[in-house]
Amino acid sequence: MTESSAQIGVVGLAVMGSNIARNFANHGHTVAVYNRTAAKTDAFMAEFGTTGSFVPSASIDEFVASLERPRRALIMVQAGPATDTVISQLADAMEPGDIIIDGGNALYTDTIRREAEMSERGLHFVGAGISGGEEGALNGPAIMPGGPAESYKSLGPLLEDISAKVDGTPCCTHIGPDGAGHFVKMVHNGIEYADMQVIGEAYHLLRYAAGIEPTEIAQIFRTWNDGDLDSYLIEITAEVLSQTDAETGKPLIDVIVDAAGQKGTGRWTVKAALDLGIPTTGIGEAVFARALSGARAQRAATTGNLPTGELTTLDALGVSKDDFVEDVRRALYASKLVAYAQGFDEIKAGSDEHGWDVDPRDLATIWRGGCIIRAKFLNRIVDAYNTDPSVQSLLLDPYFNNEVGTLVDSWRRVVVASTQLGLPIPVFASSLSYYDSLRSERLPAALIQGQRDFFGAHTYERTDRAGHFHTLWSADRSEVEA
Ligand code: 6PG
Repeated sequence: MTESSAQIGVVGLAVMGSNIARNFANHGHTVAVYNRTAAKTDAFMAEFGTTGSFVPSASIDEFVASLERPRRALIMVQAGPATDTVISQLADAMEPGDIIIDGGNALYTDTIRREAEMSERGLHFVGAGISGGEEGALNGPAIMPGGPAESYKSLGPLLEDISAKVDGTPCCTHIGPDGAGHFVKMVHNGIEYADMQVIGEAYHLLRYAAGIEPTEIAQIFRTWNDGDLDSYLIEITAEVLSQTDAETGKPLIDVIVDAAGQKGTGRWTVKAALDLGIPTTGIGEAVFARALSGARAQRAATTGNLPTGELTTLDALGVSKDDFVEDVRRALYASKLVAYAQGFDEIKAGSDEHGWDVDPRDLATIWRGGCIIRAKFLNRIVDAYNTDPSVQSLLLDPYFNNEVGTLVDSWRRVVVASTQLGLPIPVFASSLSYYDSLRSERLPAALIQGQRDFFGAHTYERTDRAGHFHTLWSADRSEVEA
């Protein structure tokens, strides 16, 4: 192998890095590979060395020297300090014009900082969200690169090459400058949390309200996957629910501890939404639902020890199983629409705040394949933004508006029934409240303004004329203009 022959290099050969490196090689590229622990590089070469053109290195300097110019080095190590260490090592060995890509789930504010630091040194830094898990990394992920547009000229074709394709369109495009790529990947994950939670709520209702067994629920999900809900997450849900535990013979779902983990991207989405003032209630409830499920000591103390009040059953409510299943499908679909609408609102707000000029159509397009939230209905989101690029909410788009019209009665019935059955549906319920809030002509916020003015003279606006006003609550209660 000649010097400087690799089109791209991958630092970090854990499963994601190793699969991405193999994906590049499978597309005919020569790939430099490096891992801090040399044994991992050796193991990688022993297992995959003959499957493509790889250039292994034992040091960062050797790795950098093995790359064609402009050098392109993709970092696939743990987000946080490990990433900073590799960036600084690469930067020391690289030259102006070279490109460092961070393919991990980095916090977008870290990416903004890193991009600024690297740009001062004449280097391009690209924070690229990569979605699709281990399988996607190997066979075609969705890729969301940020960073300088100029870097995309030399990097884009390589990334597009290894990305998933839908109707021949790569699931990869330049998202916007500095942290834009990692920001949208973060929101993607937030939507992923909400999507998983609404599927979980639907499962829970079918199981514990309608008394349907997991294998039959798996079949229901397969049917749903043939319609509007067609998506990767629905598809894998059917797989999980039809799995039997080899040891006990029980449905696997029944032997998995019901405490959901989280690595942080959902939480970041909600924190960023709070800072931007965007009510991503579906994503927020999904993150809190994971936290609640994981509060094992508290749950052990409260389970069976809180009064239920009078609970009912579907039979007592006179609801047939088939009708309930269809109502749950509709409630799931409606809540999912809300989560996506909220996620896209957050992306717009983040883009406006940072001047990224993110085109929502790009996201809906590249999320159609490769990523965890890939779903047929993303085509409809592309159409919606084509119809009106500045639509105030996806729920106002004529197609979605009409869809919600067909779902809302079922959605209300499911929320009411679940409440009467005592079954938790945090995202179904909060999404419906969000929807009703958006619809409402008057909100209780007027009262909050009155209270704020009462205890803190925070002032309020009037419905009938411009200006800010204060009532002299502790004096004669006359109103003054502030
Ligand atoms: C993806 C996923 C991935 C994420 C996992 C785990 O797009 O491929 O979002 O990036 O790390 O889904 O996330 P949690 O551990 O937070 O559930």
